[in-house]
Amino acid sequence: TRVFVPVDAAALSVGAEAVACAIAAEAAARGLCVDIVRTGSRGMLWLEPLVEVEVAGRRIAYGPVAAGDVAALFDGDFLAGGAHPLHLGPTDALAWMPRQERFTFARVGVTDPLSLADYRAQGGLAGLTRALAMAPAEIVEAVRASGLRGRGGAGFPTGIKWKTVLAAEAERKYIVCNADEGDSGTFADRMLMEGDPFVLIEGMAIAAVAVGATQGYIYVRSEYPHAARTLRRAIVAAERGGVLGASVLGSPHAFRLEVRVGAGAYICGEETSLLESLEGKRAIVRAKPPLPALAGLFGQPTVVNNVLSLASVPWILAHGAEAYAGVGMGRSRGTMPVQLAGNVRRGGLIELAFGVSLRTLVEGFGGGTLTGRPVRAVQVGGPLGAYLPEHLLDTPLDYEALAAVGGMLGHGGIVVFDDRVDMAHQARFAFAFCAKESCGKCTPCRIGAVRGAETMDRIIAGEDRPANIDVLRDLSHLMTDASLCAMGGLTPMPVMSALTHFPEDFDPPALSAAAE
Ligand code: NAI
Ligand code: SF4
Repeated sequence: TRVFVPVDAAALSVGAEAVACAIAAEAAARGLCVDIVRTGSRGMLWLEPLVEVEVAGRRIAYGPVAAGDVAALFDGDFLAGGAHPLHLGPTDALAWMPRQERFTFARVGVTDPLSLADYRAQGGLAGLTRALAMAPAEIVEAVRASGLRGRGGAGFPTGIKWKTVLAAEAERKYIVCNADEGDSGTFADRMLMEGDPFVLIEGMAIAAVAVGATQGYIYVRSEYPHAARTLRRAIVAAERGGVLGASVLGSPHAFRLEVRVGAGAYICGEETSLLESLEGKRAIVRAKPPLPALAGLFGQPTVVNNVLSLASVPWILAHGAEAYAGVGMGRSRGTMPVQLAGNVRRGGLIELAFGVSLRTLVEGFGGGTLTGRPVRAVQVGGPLGAYLPEHLLDTPLDYEALAAVGGMLGHGGIVVFDDRVDMAHQARFAFAFCAKESCGKCTPCRIGAVRGAETMDRIIAGEDRPANIDVLRDLSHLMTDASLCAMGGLTPMPVMSALTHFPEDFDPPALSAAAE
């Protein structure tokens, strides 16, 4: 009997390892033969550790399982899908699953992340195989036609970026995967790298074949040791399997891949400081132009893409650009892996076509707040994203629609807050975060963030509120317009959204009364 236990870091953090050991020990004690397969997570994090058993070709879920539940599960004949209070039914029928469109995450939680045979059996390498039969410009055109936009947050068309690198004349070109997933409330990159590393490797190999690169690097944040270890093992398996190395799947293309562990700062995720860090230097932002596409790593043309952008490409090549472009809304084509976190009853990963409303995600999938109190705000797009009030929850998941309400999609993280959140403190936090994480290269960010936090302290203390709000607005305009990169440039977004939508928190009645 095959039993599936996640090896994903989120599942490990709530005891998945102990559960796997307990299942092995209990099966041995009872003389039963059990094949424990370690998988990624299905993304239903409130059910982790989620244990699945294969019964008549279908997986039956139990969760959340603790090591102490295992003996009772065996008593209840869980290997045959038997009854138990933790029995949830067939995994693919759980309310969270059938409502999703899992293109990029199709195999995460399903396959053994380190089995290339499993990967192939579940449709892996079909995209790369197809790409190898195409001319480089055709591959780039397929990615362009799919409408795929950079999933790291900026939403720049991936096909256009690749076209720039393809057109650049150089002896050496690089593919760099940005896996420095620093946004609060995001974990899709990590889940993908831990749950299906081959899809990222395949996406990078397709990019290499498309633009003529021979070397790739995956820059993984140091906080993701499990992901880095899984990637390294998967790279070795891909080399042995002929996917990477002197010949990509028997073709004349050579492509080698290495993992680099990040230097532990948020700014390392900004593409030019990431390149500096990869070159062994301190991660200070470079001025653009030149674009990394023309002069990136070691001055050579470089594709820098986020994990999810690269991992979306195999599906696009395998199923066709039209199929990908066929879902979504407006200029946001395909699917987006959304991450639900914060004060939410059911947190986790949901992959869906663009167009779904924030309300469906937060209230439908998420089930509202964990505390059961009303949702007051959601922050979409990481610590530099806007705080949106409850009445904007009908905004659809779409790059342009979110921009129209003063927000951004970013890397698809949604953090939920209930009615006890203090938005003035959240605004202060944005400045404090920027002050701590600023690379220090430009003045608006380096100095502005510190002045911003001080100004918020004065507002919170009730000191000369109108004058300090004016300072706050001035400072925000300056940082938006004059910062060199998105770190300083976007810090005003959470601040101004908090002030716009929750002005009462910047002028509590008690403070106004005291001032009078
Ligand atoms: P950007 O708009 O400057 O650039 C987007 C991408 O397009 C870059 O890779 C750039 O090199 C490329 N590009 C632009 N014009 C090009 C052209 N003509 N040809 C080829 N390539 C071209 O945005 P940036 O600064 O790279 O990213 C900012 C975003 O990062 C924010 O909007 C935020 O959402 C996101 N972010 C994500 C984080 C995460 O953890 N994933 C953390 C912090 C921010
Ligand atoms: Fe560095 Fe901040 Fe300027 Fe970006 S905005 S270059 S992080 S100082």
